[in-house]
Amino acid sequence: MSEITKEIKEQINKRRTFAIISHPDAGKTTLTEKFLLYGGAINQAGSVKGKATARHAVSDWMEIEKERGISVTSSVLQFNYGGYCINILDTPGHQDFSEDTYRTLMAADSAVMVIDASKGVEAQTRKLFKVCTMRHIPIFTFINKMDREAMDTFELLDDIENELGIATCPVNWPIGSGKNFKGVYDRATKEIELFSDTKKGTTQGQVKKVPLGDPEVTWLIDESQRLQLMEEIELQDGAGAEFDQELVSKGELSPVFFGSALTNFGVETFLEHFLKMTTSPLPRISDQGEIDPMKEEAFSAFVFKIQANMNKAHRDRIAFMRICSGAFEAGMEVFHIQGGKKVRLSQPQQMMASERKMIDRAYGGDIIGVFDPGIFSIGDTLTTSAKKYAYEGIPTFAPEHFARVRQVDTMKRKQFIKGINQIAQEGAIQIFQEYNTGMEEIIVGVVGVLQFDVLKYRLENEYNVEIRMDSLPYEHIRWIENEEINLDKLVGTSDMKKIKDLKGRPLLLFVNDWSVRMTLERNEGLILSEFGKA
Ligand code: G4P
Repeated sequence: MSEITKEIKEQINKRRTFAIISHPDAGKTTLTEKFLLYGGAINQAGSVKGKATARHAVSDWMEIEKERGISVTSSVLQFNYGGYCINILDTPGHQDFSEDTYRTLMAADSAVMVIDASKGVEAQTRKLFKVCTMRHIPIFTFINKMDREAMDTFELLDDIENELGIATCPVNWPIGSGKNFKGVYDRATKEIELFSDTKKGTTQGQVKKVPLGDPEVTWLIDESQRLQLMEEIELQDGAGAEFDQELVSKGELSPVFFGSALTNFGVETFLEHFLKMTTSPLPRISDQGEIDPMKEEAFSAFVFKIQANMNKAHRDRIAFMRICSGAFEAGMEVFHIQGGKKVRLSQPQQMMASERKMIDRAYGGDIIGVFDPGIFSIGDTLTTSAKKYAYEGIPTFAPEHFARVRQVDTMKRKQFIKGINQIAQEGAIQIFQEYNTGMEEIIVGVVGVLQFDVLKYRLENEYNVEIRMDSLPYEHIRWIENEEINLDKLVGTSDMKKIKDLKGRPLLLFVNDWSVRMTLERNEGLILSEFGKA
């Protein structure tokens, strides 16, 4: 095998591919925009997404977005900063929160968790965090909106530790909050970072580092605030976890930073530390062992998301893949492992700030979207290696909304089954059956309710089948890990429902969390999982 070229090695080494996880409104978009501002990818903040404006830049995709209410515009944003090539993966939130949001995390090497300083850990952050910990990737915390009244700093850290079960290590410490937010104290250098005016966050602004006793500080930070800071730091130094890069890399310790994305306070400081502490593209597990991008010369990638019907006239799809090793060149021929044949990857696209553009070359760590004539499935591997390895598949994530679905016209049974199966294969929905009966009734599970609308729309428009949906009260689904368990003898709660997936694997549906716990208590040895193995 020939050596991996120096160029590829250098390119991969400088890549940082991460996702930002947060609850809606915590400031993910604002922070992303500020990263782009510092990276020089945009000149003035507000140009990426005055929520409505940026999306107009990709107007052809907008139509679908409007019609379907799902976000198809951005999958990744790439920009350069301080010698690094950064890929930020978009994790759709708000209404378009779906299984794709979780799948995107499979393509990331680390995650940045944005938390609203006045709210602490919120529901969606908790869900996304769970998926990150499953992969043991490094997780960094940015506590945002310090320019508003914030929760007590210790309380915030406790909240993260208790709610998420990860140790925290504040890299800096906020000086006040709300109108009194003056800057942050760097615990390593023991300096205070003061931030200059950023014209309401539209320009970069300057960071000034001064020792705590500096006259400039006494002018800005009064005696009581200074004393409070000293006291808090002393307490934290005595009781908190110390910074440990190894634990950070294993995802067991989260470095914490404070700031305000809106005014840019603390954003660049965060970016600089984060880029150093996080990782370049990580090795990935295949059926032939670990594939290390620093050793593997061949191109390899896996599909983590499929976006169907981008263009109404053609039923084309775009398959988004994460490159794991080597370099990609436009028009290149690669072996599609699951399909068992060579394919040419055409129309490769990448997102740069708010534009979509065609690309010629991409490297391990990058995300590309390629035209999919309907041959790819989520989790598929593509490679130029003669070894033809397959990457570990992508797990199935727990849907939270369920409905019984049937076709209105019984004569259209065939189209209905075909359509619903195809849509499930693309990963837009999950389908289940009653445990003991046949295929008569189909239960559909989705992560975000909007997927129900997508299903209805697509069955009507693409398969000409009208459907009826009756929503079911279940909110929790669990895969049974120990399949040897006799399902007939399982003692559940009265609201529990036994179902099976397309592969015939047994699952349980519950109305609430309490029922899950009760069922576990009543059946010794039962192991339930929130993720379905790929
Ligand atoms: P998201 O992507 O996580 O959903 O959040 P987004 O960045 O869209 O921010 C949600 C709201 O919070 C926005 O206000 C945004 O301006 C505000 N915000 C973000 N970061 C900060 C911060 O550091 N401090 C303060 N005070 N506010 C912040 P909006 O009024 O909902 O939207 P917009 O009209 O300003 O766009």
